Amino acid sequence: MPASPPLSIVILAAGQGTRMRSRLPKVMHTLAGRPLLAHVYDAARALGPRQVCVIVGHGAEQVRTSLQDGCCDWVEQAEQLGTGHAVAQALPHLEAETGRVLILYGDVPLVQVGTLQRLVATNPDGITLLTVKLAEPSGYGRIIRDNDGRVSAITEHKDADAATLTIDEVNTGILAAPLAGLKDWIGRLDNNNAQGEYYLTDIIALAVQDGVPVESVTASGVMEVSGVNDRLQLAVLERYYQRMQAEQLMQQGASLRDPARLDIRGEVSCGVDVSIDVNVILEGKVTLGDNVKLGANVIIRDSVIGNDTHIEPNSLIEQSTIGNACRVGPFARLRPGATLADGARVGNFVEVKNAEIGKGSKVNHLSYIGDASLGDNVNIGAGTITCNYDGAYKHRTIIADDAFIGSNTALVAPVSVGKGATIGAGSTISKDAPEDCLTLTRSPQKTLPGWQRPVKRKE
Ligand code: UD1
Ligand code: CA
Repeated sequence: MPASPPLSIVILAAGQGTRMRSRLPKVMHTLAGRPLLAHVYDAARALGPRQVCVIVGHGAEQVRTSLQDGCCDWVEQAEQLGTGHAVAQALPHLEAETGRVLILYGDVPLVQVGTLQRLVATNPDGITLLTVKLAEPSGYGRIIRDNDGRVSAITEHKDADAATLTIDEVNTGILAAPLAGLKDWIGRLDNNNAQGEYYLTDIIALAVQDGVPVESVTASGVMEVSGVNDRLQLAVLERYYQRMQAEQLMQQGASLRDPARLDIRGEVSCGVDVSIDVNVILEGKVTLGDNVKLGANVIIRDSVIGNDTHIEPNSLIEQSTIGNACRVGPFARLRPGATLADGARVGNFVEVKNAEIGKGSKVNHLSYIGDASLGDNVNIGAGTITCNYDGAYKHRTIIADDAFIGSNTALVAPVSVGKGATIGAGSTISKDAPEDCLTLTRSPQKTLPGWQRPVKRKE
């Protein structure tokens, strides 16, 4: 099988985005928690290209930080003289000498990989345009076709006559062109048009003159080719994207109380018979086992939740691992490094950080468990605090299996509590408590017989 010709991808992201009214460059505004540019970049990468080149201009330094996996070439377009000029900046930086160039836009975040694969596979020796029919084509470049229905040119809205303006098939801007031809046509562009810009779209007429075939592929829908120019459009795309993700989750076996009130900002994988109440936010990489229940207003970030576990309303869980059949919340906060073994319980107003809670152990009310290891079947009374920080260093608290910590205990770390030990309520434990014994620090209770409350003197 002959190797397929190399694919180079150029992403245009130099524009300022004036209508966003923002100090942040437009392509850094986020959709589903990630910069617009990152969405486009991921779609580009999925095509397995030889090279991805991103054209930056406004806020170039900042824009460069928006791709964590910075496996692309950044090319600066100091002055934005048009889309043709932008592509011209990339050409000297392309490593391939043959093959095709795919042009994408940093502010068109929802473009589908499948659509781009169709585009790249169509008419491999010529230009392939991604077009779409719009009920309201105003503002877009119109696709001009000859009598045989073949694409002959693109005319920008501002350069179009009345007849051309009635055309409802528009240029999405996304196209694939042969590299060799592109270099030639880009070199021949001028800016004699209504906007005084070098239009990338003018390469179509030049290619047609040169006898190079121009074909089109139709986008799967308007949303995937919609650009973001202002915050209203961004919000529309966000809601659309969230709806798609909610549908995917429902197909995987989750019941959503209201698909419009779940936000996914990352990747979620979920088992069957998961149920999710309203106003839940899932961020980063989240895994939900079978029969997981998430209550209203739960936020989960980069965490794994085991089978049959219920997270009650208003809980916040970050970088935590929760086993099977656990109960968390309501109003629980699990911070990074919280690990709950099967059947553990963390109740209301409990904060857990960098701590393991063993099988069947309970921390049900108003506690702070930080930098600690709890064995199995430990019971932590209400108001118990691990004093893990001495002002300079963090220290660990170790509590062995079957220990019972009375309410309102302060465990001054480093400290350990032995297996089966009992700590009396209200204790401040700063030395290791031996196993199976009762340990407590408590001043003796006194009663003063005959004591009288003060009363106000009569004048
Ligand atoms: C462009 C197309 C038009 C198409 C429309 C779809 C041209 C001449 N016109 O018009 O046919 O219907 O997109 O939205 O291509 N950019 C740069 N550097 C520049 C100029 C633009 O990076 O010098 C970037 C912008 O940031 C933007 C994108 O390219 O993301 C499109 O540029 P814009 O000027 O908005 O083109 P349109 O007028 O929308
Ligand atoms: Ca535009």
